Amino acid sequence: METLKLGFIGAGFVANFHAAALKQVRAAELVGVYALKWAEELAKFAKANGLGDCKVYPNVAELCKRCDAVAVFAPNFVRIELVEQIVEAMKAGAELRGIICEKPLARTVAEGRRLVALAREAKVATAYFENQIHMKAIRGALAQLGPVQKSMGPISLARSAEEHAGPHEPWFWDPTRQGGGVLCDMGCHSIAASWFVLTPIGKPVTFLEPVSINAETALLKWGQPKYRQELLDRTGVDYAQTPAEDFCTGIITFRNPETGQLVKAQFSNSWMYDKQGLRLLMEALGPGYAFEVNSLRSPLEVFISDSAAEAVADAETALEKATASRGLLAVQPNEADLYGYVDELKDARSAFVGGKDAFLNWEYGLEITKLVQAGYLSAERRKTLDLTDPAVQQELDSYTSLIAQGKGAEILM
Ligand SMILES: NC(=O)c1ccc[n+]([C@@H]2O[C@H](COP(=O)([O-])OP(=O)(O)OC[C@H]3O[C@@H](n4cnc5c(N)ncnc54)[C@H](O)[C@@H]3O)[C@@H](O)[C@H]2O)c1
Repeated sequence: METLKLGFIGAGFVANFHAAALKQVRAAELVGVYALKWAEELAKFAKANGLGDCKVYPNVAELCKRCDAVAVFAPNFVRIELVEQIVEAMKAGAELRGIICEKPLARTVAEGRRLVALAREAKVATAYFENQIHMKAIRGALAQLGPVQKSMGPISLARSAEEHAGPHEPWFWDPTRQGGGVLCDMGCHSIAASWFVLTPIGKPVTFLEPVSINAETALLKWGQPKYRQELLDRTGVDYAQTPAEDFCTGIITFRNPETGQLVKAQFSNSWMYDKQGLRLLMEALGPGYAFEVNSLRSPLEVFISDSAAEAVADAETALEKATASRGLLAVQPNEADLYGYVDELKDARSAFVGGKDAFLNWEYGLEITKLVQAGYLSAERRKTLDLTDPAVQQELDSYTSLIAQGKGAEILM
């Protein structure tokens, strides 16, 4: 098995999750990291865990010279400049076989198009990291239901939700840097997961054609004076000035181009889910069958009493975005695998070694960006958008949501 030498750009939350996942991936080494913060810590983790002789590099160009593939695990607002630097490094001789980009691909459709063009000009394979499509629970459900789907008919309603109590770093909360609120940050997951679940088994990921979208954005918790102040104190982001949505929901209708059948994806996302921690929920209904995934249900429960709670080292070892360190805790002992990180890394490794795009490439990421942005536009207009209308698609090409422009007060307050 040929080994792929990986380099990470960014050493924050998601880079650390991927490093944990890499412990479970064969024939991939973490050989370098470049980041403004936390690079040394990540390199230390990589060495301590046998992931590779990971070195810290001072810039993108130096990192690219030493790797077969690089992963962009830096914030949304530096995507374009980082990918431009990667492409420059390739022009200067770096022999990259692939570039990985975390979700969301981009903050606007125009940015997404620029990223796709950069990669295609450089003739480099791409991977768009949407971990939920790689979740073993979803893949397992679809494998189990394959024969049922063939005899009964495809899934016609998929519900998908990703919710937690709010992001860890200030930039996520700032809509002008992040690209919006929870719809941009996590709606991209739920839209992708439900589109995938609805797709008849064996068909390409964009087989079902988006027909229409109706979405709502709202500020349910973090716009209230008490919590707005708490957010300002903690992150420096002022939702009295530049609010972003902490809740979104919507429904997308897709059409099967072979049969004409219409199917629906319902998505819901929030940053005000004050339960134990992150919850992913997927539900799919077909004629005579169904499945449900709830990531808060674990075979492992841990109980910590009030008197014992002060001895707890780190609540987040139980669950991503954990909010409690006592009581009955839901604990997921292998979150990197549960959420699909292990399998998306395996997929990218084997695709790049074989000279191909990953299962999900940047063109696919751009389709998700279009749907997310269409969600913002629908919420602003308070109406259902016809996604088959060329005028709507044209409008999306140059669209930046009011929320991402820092004018969220016009629709959220
Ligand atoms: N798949 C998922 O569920 C998931 C979860 C979290 C984050 N993400 C995505 O991953 C990306 C990173 O998020 P995060 O939570 O790790 O953020 P973070 O803020 O925790 O870490 C960002 C890292 O990037 C570095 N960085 C910032 N600007 C840089 C620059 N110009 N050059 C080099 N390094 C730079 C920072 O120093 C830091 O090391 C985001 O796009 C986010 O949407 C995905």
